[in-house]
Amino acid sequence: MFYGLYEGLVRPCLFQLNAETAHNVTMKMMHVMGQYSLLTGMIRQTVANRPRKVMGIEFPNPVGLAAGLDKDGVALDALGALGFGFVEIGTVTPKPQPGNPAPRLFRVIPAEGIINRMGFNNLGVDNLVGNVRASRYEGVLGINIGKNKTTPLEKAEDDYLYCLEKVYQCASYVTVNISSPNTPNLRTLQHGSALESLISALKKKQAELKNKFGRYVPLAVKLAPELDDAEIAEVCGIFKKYGVDGVIATNTTLDREIIRDMPHVTEAGGLSGKPLFKKSTEKLKKIREELKGEIPIIGVGGIDSPLAAREKMAAGADLIQIYTSFIYKGPKIIKDIVENI
Ligand SMILES: Cc1cc2nc3c(=O)[nH]c(=O)nc-3n(C[C@H](O)[C@H](O)[C@H](O)COP(=O)(O)O)c2cc1C
Repeated sequence: MFYGLYEGLVRPCLFQLNAETAHNVTMKMMHVMGQYSLLTGMIRQTVANRPRKVMGIEFPNPVGLAAGLDKDGVALDALGALGFGFVEIGTVTPKPQPGNPAPRLFRVIPAEGIINRMGFNNLGVDNLVGNVRASRYEGVLGINIGKNKTTPLEKAEDDYLYCLEKVYQCASYVTVNISSPNTPNLRTLQHGSALESLISALKKKQAELKNKFGRYVPLAVKLAPELDDAEIAEVCGIFKKYGVDGVIATNTTLDREIIRDMPHVTEAGGLSGKPLFKKSTEKLKKIREELKGEIPIIGVGGIDSPLAAREKMAAGADLIQIYTSFIYKGPKIIKDIVENI
């Protein structure tokens, strides 16, 4: 009922503001709502139970929030109240960093898309861990880790290992983000010996941490939709060799074909939302073929309806995540998908 007002009232107000201001205002409000049980109760959305067990974790339903909305984990309590089956926070880096200069976030309204070149703006991993510890959220929590912009690529591994160690105890699973288009050269970590070295080091650290803390925290790797078939085969071979626990397909795209002639088409950054759906689903299908069901997949990219969610699952997703449709449609999209998938 309350969320029926989103598209008619809340969104028009938010869309009067520039995209990043609207984001900041919403996150602040969600942070405050999450602080007080009475306010959290006001935004709570009851969603049917649709349990799934994936990566050894029990999910109350298969619809999660994708990384990047809550980079520092400031709104976990409010997000948890909206009915997501899981919430992924981050991308977080070892040290705080400001990200790219603004403007860096653009709505492509006719296509229900977003272009962003945020560049991992975040307050650092210690701050994120503090926020998680301070929250009352008890649902499934993914923590998405990356490298600082100033860390040279040859030292990227150190940043990922550092973050993995820091977040290990408070995450349900950890996502290794090597697919953002907005950190220079990050995507080269998806290839050959750089990928193999990173994955083997992370799996070794995961085993050490499991022994130290007596709890196994699965590692998922998030991929770009720009990988071609041969690259997908190579990447999946490495994932199977080292026993990666999950794959997230996909991050945003650099492709602008579908939004040519639309506002902001020339802006640099990653495109998300509806225009990403077809491409990310094709890549997911290819990844599924290569993994042959040995490693579960979280499908993300352009899901904006129960139908799109079903298509993503038919292509091979065990779970799904949304981001851009949450901005365009509001919290009711979560319930709509969960209950009609
Ligand atoms: C503004 C914005 C910021 C994002 N930041 C991150 C991020 O920090 N880390 C990450 O792995 N993905 C990030 N993403 C990508 C999303 O997690 C998701 O993979 C992508 O948007 C496709 O899903 P969607 O079409 O449902 O939005 C971001 C997306 C948007 C729109």
